[in-house]
Amino acid sequence: MWNERYAVDEYIYGKEPNSFLAEHAGLLKGPVLSLAEGEGRNAVFLASLGLKVHGVDGSDVGLAKAQALARSRGVEIHTEVADLGVFRPEVNHYRSVISISAHLPSAIREKLYPLIEKCLKPGGIILLEAYSEAQFARNTGGPKDLDMLMTQAKIEREFPDCEPILLRELEREVREGTYHTGVASVVQFIGKKKP
Ligand SMILES: C[S@@+](CC[C@H](N)C(=O)[O-])C[C@H]1O[C@@H](n2cnc3c(N)ncnc32)[C@H](O)[C@@H]1O
Repeated sequence: MWNERYAVDEYIYGKEPNSFLAEHAGLLKGPVLSLAEGEGRNAVFLASLGLKVHGVDGSDVGLAKAQALARSRGVEIHTEVADLGVFRPEVNHYRSVISISAHLPSAIREKLYPLIEKCLKPGGIILLEAYSEAQFARNTGGPKDLDMLMTQAKIEREFPDCEPILLRELEREVREGTYHTGVASVVQFIGKKKP
């Protein structure tokens, strides 16, 4: 599905970074792991700040576009085609993890998120933005599957080893290419890995 969606010249989520990420990027240190990086807008942005970024996604078409965007901006990013359902990040390696619109079924999150906490160094940061369950009723983007949509309670339950620095649910205007357009309900989370 994602390869088909990405098989167009246009960058369907745009070339500019997610605005929540851009606002808080100063908190991030490399190496950064980017979950479900897609067409590269967020990884390329972080690389342009001088951070080393490893972007993982299941779509080879998306990641080829990510590498093309990196070349056009004169930065380097490392990308890996992998299914997050079986992905095993290196333990105690990353100083930051980002997850932007990486909507995953709970069956995958249950396996992946403990590994994400383990892959962070103590004091490392996770920054996540996802559509919330309230987005289910809207037609401005995101999966039509409540299980893949987030809540503050899910975040607290699924990241027990990360102390929230910021955790909120809000409505905001999202303008990211063709698929994310308009007022949307999102959960935003910045957590710090406990020592
Ligand atoms: C809504 S897009 C967001 C892309 C990017 N994070 C951004 O903000 O532009 C969701 C991405 O999740 C990826 N994805 C979904 N399920 C996945 C899985 N099980 N393993 C790896 N990638 C997955 C898709 O390939 C797609 O690139």
